[in-house]
Amino acid sequence: MSSRKISPLLQPCTLGASIPLRNRICMGAMTRNRCIDNNKPTEASVRHYADRARDGAGLIVAEGIFIYFHGTDYLHAPVMFKEEHAHAWQKVTHAVHHEGGKIFFQAWHAGRAQNENMPMLQDNNYPVLAPSKITAAGGKYRPHLGKPGHTSHITEIIDVNEIFEQYRNSVSLAKKAGFDGVEILAQGGYLLHNFLLSRTNQRTDKYGGSVENCCRFVLEIVDAIVEVWGSTAVGIKICPCDNMFDTAVPYEEVTETYSYLVPKLVDRKLAYINLSRRGCDTGPSQYPVDTFVNTRPAGTELPPGYEPLDDQTSLMVNQEYTVAEAERLLQAEKIDLVCFGRPFIYNPDLVTRIRRKIPFATNDRGTQVSYGPYEDPNENYNDWPYAARE
Ligand SMILES: Cc1cc2nc3c(=O)[nH]c(=O)nc-3n(C[C@H](O)[C@H](O)[C@H](O)COP(=O)(O)O)c2cc1C
Repeated sequence: MSSRKISPLLQPCTLGASIPLRNRICMGAMTRNRCIDNNKPTEASVRHYADRARDGAGLIVAEGIFIYFHGTDYLHAPVMFKEEHAHAWQKVTHAVHHEGGKIFFQAWHAGRAQNENMPMLQDNNYPVLAPSKITAAGGKYRPHLGKPGHTSHITEIIDVNEIFEQYRNSVSLAKKAGFDGVEILAQGGYLLHNFLLSRTNQRTDKYGGSVENCCRFVLEIVDAIVEVWGSTAVGIKICPCDNMFDTAVPYEEVTETYSYLVPKLVDRKLAYINLSRRGCDTGPSQYPVDTFVNTRPAGTELPPGYEPLDDQTSLMVNQEYTVAEAERLLQAEKIDLVCFGRPFIYNPDLVTRIRRKIPFATNDRGTQVSYGPYEDPNENYNDWPYAARE
């Protein structure tokens, strides 16, 4: 592309039927473990999101927010199930709107990827809930060093309506908090993903067994959220080839599940599908410090030339996209929006850099920048340098 041409990433667009975005650059949801005020955002969070909105991010998806007492090992991840949580997030959404940005709430339930020793669960005598009692291999449990691994004490969900109600309550509060919409987290080895996979779902009721049954829970959650928000303000994040938290399944199952699920999502006329290609890695990561590349286990290999994009569907994509690749795919009308994750950590001026064709800064500080530990939540969060201002 000629250097004089404006990047297709900077073209405005409409998300869903009605949410105008000033460009096609989205900041992906990123847990940063800095909600140190009883799992509520702080002034540091307000500053972090406002800075990125001020620089011109088209859409910000806020960090994953637990819809109930479902904390993982991130002690300071946010929750949204009381008025006080909505009130705290209002400061973030107002600041982003003040800067001309848009911000979505990400609804998160950890499912089996947690541990009953998590203080939030213990304090509230709340169990680890999942579709079936199948422990995730591996894992870690930072607050209780020396006790690695995900829990084997899983309580099988009996009353799905209780979970639907928790989602409804949480996304209703998100509306009060001033978010512009909701992204449903349905990947990553968390609850919704647990229902989708035969590896984690061995139910014999109408939520397990056939592909239709395994997708039912996710689709009913989508419908519950759409009831509150309307379909055009709801997106969903999926990752068909995910391998996080012991979730890799053979390609045949990936094909069957998502060939059924994606058209059902498209039928619902959602604002967007955010498609991750995590788990499709074929070479080394461009982020050697904060890498997510894992080799797929034997039996879950992808066929040569597997293409994670579906050019029939308007969509947002994420996972290791570069500016050049995103521009090429936008120009070819294969995608509508691109989500950057890690680059938004180190580049508070990411949009300016794209506009001025300045390379992204990389992480030269080590792996601790994502989640701490830190004394001041601003550390490695609001202290990244800007490229020379225009
Ligand atoms: C520190 C960190 C925290 C993340 N937390 C979340 C999260 O809460 N919810 C989510 O859907 N994805 C989460 N992600 C994934 C990102 O949203 C994004 O999909 C991923 O980083 C791929 O984009 P990238 O290659 O541009 O970084 C996280 C990523 C990082 C690096």
